[in-house]
Amino acid sequence: MNRLALTVVAAGVALTSLGAAAQFQKPEDAIKYRQSVMTVMGNHLGRVAAMVQGRVPFDAKTAADNAAIVVMMSKLPWVAFGDGTDKGMPTRARPEIWKEPAKFKDLENKMMADAEKFDAAAKTGNLDNIKAALGTLGRACKSCHDDFRNEKYSN
Ligand code: HEC
Repeated sequence: MNRLALTVVAAGVALTSLGAAAQFQKPEDAIKYRQSVMTVMGNHLGRVAAMVQGRVPFDAKTAADNAAIVVMMSKLPWVAFGDGTDKGMPTRARPEIWKEPAKFKDLENKMMADAEKFDAAAKTGNLDNIKAALGTLGRACKSCHDDFRNEKYSN
């Protein structure tokens, strides 16, 4: 093989391993990833909720910054619910996720759309808008948790 061909092959190998690394090596890695993303998303949503509830003073920029993190995180967990990730470490994912994938997907999409609306509301800087959008988003989280998340972690 000439040098150019070798370079092309090497680049191909690099891309392939990049693709594999972007997925998950083990079910445990996927579970850890989705739980981490959900935790971060919930934390930043909670910071805005604290303002809406008057537990901390309202600050429009802080609310918008947190909403931007929520909308970014809202896109991430779903790839980590692949086949075979129902066990591997303690998880609250219910088996129904893999039995009713269309229903789960609908709830993902609903939540992502509501997160976009929440982000748009936060950018208006209007507390009433933010409150309404947060309520809608919170219901989207809950409706999936009610159907697809167990109370207790598996072991
Ligand atoms: C389409 C379904 C779905 C939606 C929508 C959803 N979640 Fe989850 N969430 C899950 C599942 C399933 C788990 C359990 C994951 C596991 O234990 O492997 C979970 C777990 C969590 C956890 C616990 C993470 C941990 O460390 O165990 C938090 C916090 C959380 N979600 C917050 C949220 C928030 C906030 C929203 C809305 C902005 C949301 N979720 C929307 C399905 C969903």
